Amino acid sequence: MKLAVVGGGSTYTPELIDGFARLRDTLPIEELVLVDPAADRLDLIGPLARRIFAKQGHPGTITTTADLDAGVEGADAVLLQLRVGGQAARNEDETWPLECGCVGQETTGAGGLAKALRTVPVVLDIAERVRRSNPDAWIIDFTNPVGIVTRALLRAGHKAVGLCNVAIGFQRKFARLLDVAPAEVHLDHVGLNHLSWELGVRLGGPGGEDVLPKLLEAHGEAVAADLRMPRSVLDRLGVVPSYYLRYFYAHDEVVRELGTKPSRAAEVAAMEKELLALYADPALDEKPELLARRGGAFYSEAAVDLAASLLGGGGPAVQVVNTYNNGTLPFLPDDAVIETQARVDGTGALPLAVPALDPLYAGLVAGVSAYEGLALEAALHGGRDRVFKALLAHPLVGQVEYADKLTDLLIAHNREHLAWA
Ligand code: G6P
Ligand code: MN
Repeated sequence: MKLAVVGGGSTYTPELIDGFARLRDTLPIEELVLVDPAADRLDLIGPLARRIFAKQGHPGTITTTADLDAGVEGADAVLLQLRVGGQAARNEDETWPLECGCVGQETTGAGGLAKALRTVPVVLDIAERVRRSNPDAWIIDFTNPVGIVTRALLRAGHKAVGLCNVAIGFQRKFARLLDVAPAEVHLDHVGLNHLSWELGVRLGGPGGEDVLPKLLEAHGEAVAADLRMPRSVLDRLGVVPSYYLRYFYAHDEVVRELGTKPSRAAEVAAMEKELLALYADPALDEKPELLARRGGAFYSEAAVDLAASLLGGGGPAVQVVNTYNNGTLPFLPDDAVIETQARVDGTGALPLAVPALDPLYAGLVAGVSAYEGLALEAALHGGRDRVFKALLAHPLVGQVEYADKLTDLLIAHNREHLAWA
């Protein structure tokens, strides 16, 4: 089995390698290629990746290349984990929306739109080249904003599934609190990428007993603390929102907070410097502790499970992924992308049925999904008017005055990345 990781020079890669090394029985990789235009990063991360494999006795080979076509040739699956413009572009996304009193975040609101506009054309070009060299390869997309990027890939007819670590993070957390094995915990996870709720927590299988009420009663405080939301919100809703809902439920509070501290991009950039210095140490042969301070916990395990299922080698049959709605949420178009529990096998991901969604959540999902559709139009075809419409449709923008100002700011801060601007 051959896997290629595009964006393999990411400081996150040792997390992925650690998962591949530990879970080699689930995903027997023979050949792994790290593809990245940044040769200096590959020169640090390639050797570290090989040391991690060697330490854990993994027999697979790891190579690095800046040549995308060569790297993906013959791959059974290609993982996309790139960031167009790096942390510098992210820093902008997190900063200029604050000028309009709007949240500055890399996937939510106006900053998320900027990221989508920069990213979709790049990802589609890569996917096209993957398909040309290997039409059977699966594309697993981690690249944010995952909902919009996956929608772009599927619409272009690619064999693609979008993946995020929010659901697996909840699964692992709940399993710990309930003192059961993670595989025992099934989530009624509904919504969009970075806009989801756990409506139920079932033990034993997708039809098992819903222990969410008991979980909230016994551990509501611990769950709420991770989300930085008051426990009372969870108790009143009776569901667990993902932490990205804080940007909606506590929007103004978050904006005030963001105005008083360095951006997350600045924090991450500082961490990346430290990480790269650690990676350069030839004695390092495991993922360093510092990596745990990044947001990517468990993403390697989610990737292993998904790749194993798509490549027909086992793995859990039901996983939370991003894929076409196809009637699962009846109030959304079939070609909207949702994040939900799906049965995954060699033919792809098939969403499981979900109970009717309360209007309390359905309204927001419909609004943000409509925004995502308009964002994709803007990413594919460009133009100030399309950017403006996507922003006007976003529930966190919504006003003409702000949509206009944010459109100008977005274009001004992203000119070098937008072919049409
Ligand atoms: C979580 C999200 C990812 C996001 C990451 C950011 O893992 O699911 O989509 O990329 O957080 O983490 P960072 O350490 O870069 O802030
Ligand atoms: Mn995510």
